[in-house]
Amino acid sequence: MSKRIMFTGGSGKAGRHVVQYLVEQGCQVLNIDTKPLDNPKVRTLITDITDSGQVFNALSSYMGLHEFDPSLRPQPIDAVVHFAAIPRIMITTDNEVFRINALGTYNVIEAAVKLGIRKVVIASSETTYGLVFANEPRDPQYFPLDEDYDVDPMDSYALSKVVNEKTARAFALRNGTDIYALRIGNVIEPHEYSLFPKWFADPGFRKRIAWSYVDARDLGQITLRAIEKDGLGYQVFNAANDDTSSDLPTAELLKRFYPSVPVKAELGEYETLLSNRKARDILGFRPEHSWRKYVKQA
Ligand SMILES: NC(=O)c1ccc[n+]([C@@H]2O[C@H](COP(=O)([O-])OP(=O)(O)OC[C@H]3O[C@@H](n4cnc5c(N)ncnc54)[C@H](O)[C@@H]3O)[C@@H](O)[C@H]2O)c1
Repeated sequence: MSKRIMFTGGSGKAGRHVVQYLVEQGCQVLNIDTKPLDNPKVRTLITDITDSGQVFNALSSYMGLHEFDPSLRPQPIDAVVHFAAIPRIMITTDNEVFRINALGTYNVIEAAVKLGIRKVVIASSETTYGLVFANEPRDPQYFPLDEDYDVDPMDSYALSKVVNEKTARAFALRNGTDIYALRIGNVIEPHEYSLFPKWFADPGFRKRIAWSYVDARDLGQITLRAIEKDGLGYQVFNAANDDTSSDLPTAELLKRFYPSVPVKAELGEYETLLSNRKARDILGFRPEHSWRKYVKQA
């Protein structure tokens, strides 16, 4: 059945691909964003998620003017997908990053839960593992980074994402709503595969993100799988492709760049260090867009 989805942040880099994927899979989507989205199949309702009144209003609104037709009166919303955010530090001040992300996410989850929407999927981040925006290069507690890790970042962006995960957990506990947080790896749009050869030539360049990536279309797939999988309460899933964004074997990357870090699992030759095993096992996530399909190897 066609899912009805309220989507925040659909005008952004990741959101526009995920929205397109959901529409291609037959979902109805309303985009909730401060900026319009150039997609003829999707309406945008201009909304600032830091204003709770606007968020309650948006999540309870019609999805389009067609719903003025009594025979098309709105059915319940199946899910809220929440991507709207300031997506890293150094775009605005640290306190604004924290305020917009922490408050915006609180507002979206609270409104969804209090309006009786039974599924919320939020964008968390691999930065919660504390490597990406650390003051100095830092070793993680262990590899592969998995959902049991005690996340301990030191920057305001990743901290806002940790707070968002706690907010999700609190509302899931309070109401029994399914709220799943996707710890998203570095999002790669189709045109960005041209960057990979440059990264291959300098393998240390992506050390801080542990060479993780997720194709924006595969991010669409994992989002839909999260929408379709019910009954798990609060959950965190890493969202990463099966392989790393390096052409070197994973063991070689570890030996060269993280020689002292304990490795807790047996890894495939090119397996991602942002483990996607939980998403594969529980959601049935099967990434379809490895860089190996799009980048010529030397
Ligand atoms: N891009 C990545 O590599 C990456 C990696 C991990 C996690 N994430 C997360 O994924 C999500 C999407 O990231 P992105 O790269 O597409 O970022 P983006 O900046 O391209 O998109 C974010 C969208 O949120 C909207 N927005 C910002 N503040 C808003 C507000 N107050 N009210 C309503 N809308 C607002 C923006 O207009 C924009 O369209 C974010 O939550 C980000 O933290 C992204």
